[in-house]
Amino acid sequence: MDHKGTIVMQKYELGRLLGQGSFAKVYHARCVETGQSVAIKVVDKAKVRKAGIMDHIEREISVMRRVRHPNVVHLYEVMATKSKIYFVMEYARGGELFRKVEANGRLPEDVGRKYFVQLIDAVEFCHGRGVCHRDLKPENILLDEDGGIKVSDFGLSGVAECRGADGLLHTTCGTPAYVAPEIIGRSGYDGAGVDVWSCGVVLFVLLAGYLPFHDTNVMEMYRKISRGEYRFPSWFSPKLKKLISRMLDPNPSSRISIAKIKGSSWFKAGKEGEPVKVTSDGDEARRLLKMNAFDIISLSDGLDLSKLFETESCLDKGCRIMSRKPVAVIVSRLERGARAAKMRVSKKDGGLIELESRDGVLAIEAEISVVTPVLHLVEVRRRYGEAAEYEKVLNEVIRPRLVDKAPSSLLRHQHSLSPSSGARL
Ligand code: ADE
Repeated sequence: MDHKGTIVMQKYELGRLLGQGSFAKVYHARCVETGQSVAIKVVDKAKVRKAGIMDHIEREISVMRRVRHPNVVHLYEVMATKSKIYFVMEYARGGELFRKVEANGRLPEDVGRKYFVQLIDAVEFCHGRGVCHRDLKPENILLDEDGGIKVSDFGLSGVAECRGADGLLHTTCGTPAYVAPEIIGRSGYDGAGVDVWSCGVVLFVLLAGYLPFHDTNVMEMYRKISRGEYRFPSWFSPKLKKLISRMLDPNPSSRISIAKIKGSSWFKAGKEGEPVKVTSDGDEARRLLKMNAFDIISLSDGLDLSKLFETESCLDKGCRIMSRKPVAVIVSRLERGARAAKMRVSKKDGGLIELESRDGVLAIEAEISVVTPVLHLVEVRRRYGEAAEYEKVLNEVIRPRLVDKAPSSLLRHQHSLSPSSGARL
């Protein structure tokens, strides 16, 4: 529904749509009386209630009220009707920081440093008030008219009260490309460490023009994040590389703290008082992939999201199936499948398993990789034989035995919290 021109609470006129999630839309709006620009997040109460996340919204209000900092989007007021909640927020006129990177390419180190210093300042301030953002990502980093950053959207942020008995946070949220390995591993995690990781990814993207952990296949991205596998571009200075490698440490207990980031030589190298300017240096901003947080949540919960990471043609590039079953169970299911299809099974070097028809006309190989200790990726490929025969064995014999069944409650969960979807920078 188009809300443009609608007057809400007899006070604000809604303008253009700025952003959209599953439960909320953010509009530019103007105060009718003063003409002041604001951003209004309109939350649909029914959707929130249905998803059982009203407590998230209440927490968001309390969090935003608690944090007042020049680099954090300020919450002016909250209003509600029977069906909607309106968050009236500071309007960040410069839009998303990453749109600039997308349009103009990577930033020079000193410009990136200016933004990064402000980001760390905002994050440190929030942590000092018991608030971890946990969902720092491009669309949450906005710019004001002076080129200063404004961190927005504490919708999924964790406050100290939601810690488990072990003092660690237990909710899975965040956007895969920016998400820390301990979230993927689903062990309890420290929200501050998660924010440090995401800030490391943000810094990398600003100065490289592309993501450190990127793969069109979400499982591969997942695996790279878990292993902390990335490469620096040639133009990164040694001090910058040192800092980023300390922030993108897959081990949260040895990952650098905010205090140490601030003490690092790269962080301190910037001179005070220079204007922040985003230049276009002609470097092509690569298309980066942004995945919905629920892609990964669902993967962690064992849903069959094979469509997400299967390549279009299962034939020659291979077919990928993820499983939470132990390797021994996967192997035994492949063996049973082979028997059902009257194929021979043999184990080859490098952990490959080969299924071969007794008449020798079709051979299929399966490779099992450990993504995390509880997640395995099975890549199935045709070695030789008729495509139709291969597809028949794959779809009727192998796939049904390997794909994990999704409990219905998890399917509900998959749709309940999604902040956004789609793939873009
Ligand atoms: N998009 C989402 N929130 C915003 C805000 N506060 N200002 C500008 N654009 C936004």
